Amino acid sequence: MSLAKLVVATFRRLRSVLVLAVTISTLFYYSFQNEIDILNSYAENEYLPSINNEHLEHATAQTSELMSNLISVNPGANPAAVQAVQAAQVQAAQAHAQAQAQPPVQDKKGPPADANRDHSDTQASLDGKLSDPAVFKEKNKYFPLLLQSPAHDPTNQWTQEETPSMKELAVHKEKYPLMYELSLSSFYADDTVQESTKGLFALVSSDPKVSYKEDRNDVRKLLVKSWDQQRLHFLSMNMEKMWPIGLVDALDTLYIMEETTLFQNAVERIAETDFKIPPVGMTNVNVVDVSTRILGGLISAYDLSQEKVLLTKARELADFLLRAFDTPNRIPLLNYAWKSPYKNRFPYMEANIADFTKVALEFTRLTKLTGANKYFDAVYHILVMIAKSTQQLNIEGLFPDSIDASTCQLLTSDAIHKGAHQRNSRIMKSIDENFKFVHCHQLDYFPETSSSYKLDDKLLPLYDLYLQLYSLLKADVFGNSETIPTNSSHLYHQGINQISRLFTFQPKVPAELGNLTLLADLDTNPIFSPSTNELNINLRRDFKFHPESCALGATLAYGSKLFPENNVTDLALAGNVTESCFKLAMYMKGTLAEVSLDPCIGGNCVFDAAAKLDDIMSGKYIGFANGFSSGATIGAVKLDTPAEKKIKRSLMNKKPSIKEAINVAGGGDVDDEDIPKDVAKDEIDGSEKTTIKTYHFIKDEQFTNVYHTSNSINNDKNGWKYDEKRPLWINGLSHQQLTSPDLIKAIFFMYRTTGDEKWRVMGKQLKDEMIRTMEQTFQGAKGSWKVSEFEQNSDGIPSHWFSQTLKYFYLLFSDASEYSLDEYVFTESAHILKRRIIKPAAVHDRQHL
Ligand SMILES: *[C@@H]1O[C@H](CO)[C@@H](O)[C@H](O)[C@H]1NC(C)=O
Ligand SMILES: *[C@@H]1O[C@H](CO)[C@@H](O)[C@H](O)[C@H]1NC(C)=O
Ligand SMILES: *[C@@H]1O[C@H](CO)[C@@H](O)[C@H](O)[C@H]1NC(C)=O
Ligand SMILES: *[C@@H]1O[C@H](CO)[C@@H](O)[C@H](O)[C@H]1NC(C)=O
Repeated sequence: MSLAKLVVATFRRLRSVLVLAVTISTLFYYSFQNEIDILNSYAENEYLPSINNEHLEHATAQTSELMSNLISVNPGANPAAVQAVQAAQVQAAQAHAQAQAQPPVQDKKGPPADANRDHSDTQASLDGKLSDPAVFKEKNKYFPLLLQSPAHDPTNQWTQEETPSMKELAVHKEKYPLMYELSLSSFYADDTVQESTKGLFALVSSDPKVSYKEDRNDVRKLLVKSWDQQRLHFLSMNMEKMWPIGLVDALDTLYIMEETTLFQNAVERIAETDFKIPPVGMTNVNVVDVSTRILGGLISAYDLSQEKVLLTKARELADFLLRAFDTPNRIPLLNYAWKSPYKNRFPYMEANIADFTKVALEFTRLTKLTGANKYFDAVYHILVMIAKSTQQLNIEGLFPDSIDASTCQLLTSDAIHKGAHQRNSRIMKSIDENFKFVHCHQLDYFPETSSSYKLDDKLLPLYDLYLQLYSLLKADVFGNSETIPTNSSHLYHQGINQISRLFTFQPKVPAELGNLTLLADLDTNPIFSPSTNELNINLRRDFKFHPESCALGATLAYGSKLFPENNVTDLALAGNVTESCFKLAMYMKGTLAEVSLDPCIGGNCVFDAAAKLDDIMSGKYIGFANGFSSGATIGAVKLDTPAEKKIKRSLMNKKPSIKEAINVAGGGDVDDEDIPKDVAKDEIDGSEKTTIKTYHFIKDEQFTNVYHTSNSINNDKNGWKYDEKRPLWINGLSHQQLTSPDLIKAIFFMYRTTGDEKWRVMGKQLKDEMIRTMEQTFQGAKGSWKVSEFEQNSDGIPSHWFSQTLKYFYLLFSDASEYSLDEYVFTESAHILKRRIIKPAAVHDRQHL
């Protein structure tokens, strides 16, 4: 045996061992590095005893003063020297930060929530150094930035000169990895068994005599016309500035309408686009927009066409988007300043719940397609937070307009003084927008930061998510899980029941419109009385119709099939809402708008012009926008703001078990005595003291948010003075729109769940009316007309026109078996994802090892 052979043979024998050894050492290295990182963060954190030394503070202050003098005397003379000086400054500031971690005894008094700031003010001269970019950068590695919104970002002023190189931007080292990995496949045992839901949406009757072929052609012609109009915009898109968002959004519509050439051209263009990182010109990434429109568009187009490049691009994009989830509570930064060198941040405090649900479907589908669990992991964590939050809400199941995504509860100086920040590992030292240190206690739910509710796209998509996720997986991620002690059906119905009893109203409209069921906005004034443990929630509806609320028809129709507990009433309400929106749209020539109306409270719902003029003249319409004030509420005590805050906090901390007493008094004149005290509706947990919730509608709520006097009426005393065209029964009108998808979405879902042809007839009428209005409103030369929206931005036709509105019209006029709801799930931006599993999610992602 020659030497060479011997070597080869030895190598063969050792090969597997070698691979193993290398793997183990790599693993070892990374876990070791991780440990070091963690230790380092402890060292910089509060858990170790720190030094409180005034001399040190004094000394460091002097040092840095000296240093800055040095720099200013001799600016930029010797770069190395300046660097050394800066390094010294960094060190001094670090030493200082440790020194000041222990609060001084002479804390000022002040309102508790602001106490941190007061405390920091005494240290202002020293904290001030955080406003030095170099110091801040160093500190920010350990202390995350806590901001209200992107507009409050104090580092904005620096990013210009501080932007990292493209090479640095191409990589991202995760700082806050998710600690657990929950495999998506653990939610469904056997995919074949799940097929039992198949056929849920198979329509019984489809009248063979009726054909919508021509209507389908109309829609296709509309698509081609709009595409021609928009072509220049699509093609001239500067790839350095923006991802081709509109193009991707429209992809699956092109495919569905069999515009093969357009589709192929678009795919080629997309194949050239880099989705690993955004174009340099894109400073902030709107994570919701990019997830729903680009990621959703790519995955959907892949599901339909099986073009491999689309899945590759989707993966690249999703990998980038995951960077936005790298925050202390793993809730994404929705407005993601991806180029900022100051990456360590909490998600912004100002947020709404639906935005966090809008990424869920796309990421889940991607995990199913690729087997990489990290995408699902990222959203599952959000789902857990949402489920936990629902138990903390003032009105169960209903999220108000805004929530705090940072989930930070700031520690009071009192608590810090008592050393609370050193005992609780959920407390994290952070930097606020004024470059002050604060202590954030991380809650495991989203605190409410508003008491107003709107049925628009900040809330409604949440209920869709419960349905879509259940449908997509054919399994319940909210059910049978120890981390989430509830289930999708319960979460869904809890919200829907509140909506149907608190938000619905009948407006006073002309007889020709019949009876309408619309959805109002809601303002509340929760008042907790600790002695009796009662929570009184005063309710005041604002009878303002939002076009987005029509989409509730779609949600309810779909939900009545998936979670049929209340299917009869849910479906009835879905029909009422959809039909009401349709009647309103036909009255407004195929458009919808935000309109403020008079509710019909008892008695006749037909609008009576004379009576209304009387009411205006006699001063009933003078509004009381702050309508929870004296005399306006029924049987409740008004508290001032600080007390109210304290109460809210104590409510949160106690996690009270809750019994509800619901008094939905139809908004009429109800006396306290009339309120039925039928307590004990939903008992969650009998072990603790029980909070009793009571809802009251306030008196005269119909006049709270309108303001009209005799001055509003024209001289002939028969209409409005300033807006002659607006009918007298409409108190206000704004945001008129022609291309919005909400109504046709509801009509489509009504048809696909009931099979009733009347919905297709409505869709046809709506389409014809819409085209007529476009022809009349957006005329060009020689009798040509344009597809357009009333209020247009620089992007031309809104992209939802391609991705949603035209798609729903087209599919409504198609056979119900085409893109059936049994096989596909429609995302919030109408991208359709396959429910059938293409590739089993067997391979595990090693990302978090
Ligand atoms: C869902 O949860 C509710 C309340 O927690 C419970 O009453 C219901 O039985 C559950 N449904 C299923 C299907 O588990
Ligand atoms: C509208 O409702 C009123 C009572 O609420 C009822 O008397 C009337 O018949 C209804 N009209 C239609 C067209 O349904
Ligand atoms: C409601 O659901 C039940 C089964 O749960 C079904 O038999 C019934 O037909 C449904 N009704 C409607 C209106 O969909
Ligand atoms: C639907 O509308 C009809 C007629 O206006 C009304 O009688 C019924 O109560 C409404 N149903 C729901 C669930 O709102």
